[in-house]
Amino acid sequence: MEKSSYFAALIVLFLLTIINVSSSSTSRDLPKVICIETEREALLSFKKGLIDHSLPSWNEDNCCAWMGVQCDNVTGHILQLDLRSPYDYTYLGSRFGGEVNSALSELKQLNYLDLSLNNFGGILVPPFLGSLPNLKWLKLSRAGCVGGKSLRWATNLSSLQELDMSGLDLSNTSDWLQVISMLPSLVVLHLSNCSLDKIHFLPNASFTSLLKLDLTHNQFTSLMPNSLYNLTRLVLLDLSYNRFRGPIHSSLNFFSSLERLYLSNNNFTGSLPKGIGLLSKLERSISHFPCNQMNKSYYLNIVNLSGNHFSGEFPPCWMDWPLLKLINMENNNLKGTIPSSVGSLVSLKSLNLRNNSLHGELPSSMQNWTRLIMMHIGGNKFSGNIPTWMGKSFPDLRSLVLHSNKFDGAIPLELCHLTSLQILDLSHNHLSEAIPRCFNNLSAMTIPQNTCPLYRFHISFRFDRKCIAGDKRNKAEI
Ligand SMILES: *[C@@H]1O[C@H](CO)[C@@H](O)[C@H](O)[C@H]1NC(C)=O
Ligand SMILES: *[C@@H]1O[C@H](CO)[C@@H](O)[C@H](O)[C@H]1NC(C)=O
Ligand SMILES: *[C@@H]1O[C@H](CO)[C@@H](O)[C@H](O)[C@H]1NC(C)=O
Ligand SMILES: *[C@@H]1O[C@H](CO)[C@@H](O)[C@H](O)[C@H]1NC(C)=O
Ligand SMILES: *[C@@H]1O[C@H](CO)[C@@H](O)[C@H](O)[C@H]1NC(C)=O
Ligand SMILES: *[C@@H]1O[C@H](CO)[C@@H](O)[C@H](O)[C@H]1NC(C)=O
Ligand SMILES: *[C@@H]1O[C@H](CO)[C@@H](O)[C@H](O)[C@H]1NC(C)=O
Ligand SMILES: *[C@@H]1O[C@H](CO)[C@@H](O)[C@H](O)[C@H]1NC(C)=O
Ligand SMILES: *[C@@H]1O[C@H](CO)[C@@H](O)[C@H](O)[C@H]1NC(C)=O
Ligand SMILES: *[C@@H]1O[C@H](CO)[C@@H](O)[C@H](O)[C@H]1NC(C)=O
Ligand SMILES: *[C@@H]1O[C@H](CO)[C@@H](O)[C@H](O)[C@H]1NC(C)=O
Ligand SMILES: *[C@@H]1O[C@H](CO)[C@@H](O)[C@H](O)[C@H]1NC(C)=O
Repeated sequence: MEKSSYFAALIVLFLLTIINVSSSSTSRDLPKVICIETEREALLSFKKGLIDHSLPSWNEDNCCAWMGVQCDNVTGHILQLDLRSPYDYTYLGSRFGGEVNSALSELKQLNYLDLSLNNFGGILVPPFLGSLPNLKWLKLSRAGCVGGKSLRWATNLSSLQELDMSGLDLSNTSDWLQVISMLPSLVVLHLSNCSLDKIHFLPNASFTSLLKLDLTHNQFTSLMPNSLYNLTRLVLLDLSYNRFRGPIHSSLNFFSSLERLYLSNNNFTGSLPKGIGLLSKLERSISHFPCNQMNKSYYLNIVNLSGNHFSGEFPPCWMDWPLLKLINMENNNLKGTIPSSVGSLVSLKSLNLRNNSLHGELPSSMQNWTRLIMMHIGGNKFSGNIPTWMGKSFPDLRSLVLHSNKFDGAIPLELCHLTSLQILDLSHNHLSEAIPRCFNNLSAMTIPQNTCPLYRFHISFRFDRKCIAGDKRNKAEI
């Protein structure tokens, strides 16, 4: 008697353990509801149209437990279908091909559909997607579809918040902007690498809710369209890798919400966009205190204008950009000196002014940049001594590139205090005297490149602590 109850207790314990294990291993997907039969059939029809991938889990009774399927835990309706190819697209054969069966239009509650990185062999984006009235997220990037003549099918997607059609050929799709700009809820739009060459806003275009716009890697050759300046709620604008030309207009409203501005690798000319920390000459001449009218608080974080033909001076008024972390203006034609007002950029982590025609001494207000990680100002005409305060003021500095300038005098011993420094390039200057012996104190340089590849911090600042010798502080990501 005693023995059997002991065994019963053991069995219960065993079962509990199994349940525990299985629930923790599938905790995300553990369906609390049973899926709806008509929706299950719709998924099966969809599966029949697919080739190159077997979707092994798609045969159990409860389709809410199928890979990539998520149901409403009360009604059982399918809400999300995430069939993004899990592999890099170079692994041929691991992606879906075939057709996108219109049976999916049965899933009336669907709000999330991701078919990215599959290979549907150049079919048209299926127009029935326009009949999914609750769709909020539609992700088709590099899914191997093309836009065809028209996106008219999308006009009724009034709940759509995010649309990603990057890598789909929209070169024949003349109404892409007309249709997309009318979507009343759209917040995020990715149309990178879509073979687009014309951007023509209709007068009635709205984009009232758009916050993030990515049009990189297309073939636009026009001026920056005036209508873009009207998108005053934009937080991110990325027009990199096109051939947009001409100047950027002065429009302070345009910058009032912008956090990240990427215009690199275009054909922009003229002075730097007014609104990035500067007043026009006219405004300066009529104002007694040149910058004090700009007391608005701006949110700009990242400015990447590299690889254009911007000319003129480095902006003089930086008081309003306390959040600015990254400035990249390399490969332009900037002239003049760096104004001492840059001392207000107290959050700056990365400055790249490589390959311009800037001159003069580095202003001592730069000492305020105590979070600086990278300074690349090679290929200019900067002069004077290398400031001794660099050694004290930049405890996190990892990369200091001053090559091909006109710095003179001795290399200051204070540079040896830069214990995080991994790259130091002082070549092609007019420096004299010996290389300081204390350079062998720069121990961070001995960290093998493969443990701390520098490209990672160029891109995101997401590098591990082991890369920062002697520094226990956590590094924030930009
Ligand atoms: C349904 O799931 C969501 C998130 O998965 C959860 O927040 C919510 O409380 C659940 N509702 C019910 C009724 O279980
Ligand atoms: C664009 O249209 C032309 C002519 O109809 C056609 O030959 C071409 O395949 C189409 N390209 C795409 C990407 O739709
Ligand atoms: C959009 O919805 C309206 C009203 O339901 C309908 O008449 C129209 O055909 C739909 N348009 C498209 C392109 O599906
Ligand atoms: C753009 O798409 C083409 C063809 O789909 C691809 O070969 C190319 O690598 C893509 N370019 C970028 C920058 O992603
Ligand atoms: C916007 O204007 C175009 C062309 O004039 C027209 O076809 C379209 O119906 C208009 N859209 C709205 C929402 O008014
Ligand atoms: C920008 O908005 C203003 C006011 O809302 C409007 O008058 C003007 O036509 C718009 N400009 C463009 C280019 O859309
Ligand atoms: C800025 O743009 C250049 C050129 O497109 C690119 O190489 C670089 O990674 C960008 N930097 C940042 C921080 O976005
Ligand atoms: C850039 O613009 C200039 C004229 O301003 C033009 O001569 C040149 O061809 C353009 N470059 C590219 C790559 O489009
Ligand atoms: C800017 O300064 C003026 C004058 O000092 C003041 O009236 C105004 O409220 C300030 N604006 C902001 C946004 O702080
Ligand atoms: C410097 O920038 C110009 C564009 O202003 C570019 O044409 C040139 O190739 C760049 N030189 C180097 C060495 O990067
Ligand atoms: C340095 O930053 C402080 C705020 O942290 C600011 O008050 C001061 O004016 C700045 N110094 C210079 C020279 O800009
Ligand atoms: C270099 O390191 C040695 C030993 O750690 C120390 O005594 C010396 O002060 C350091 N020199 C400089 C310039 O930091």
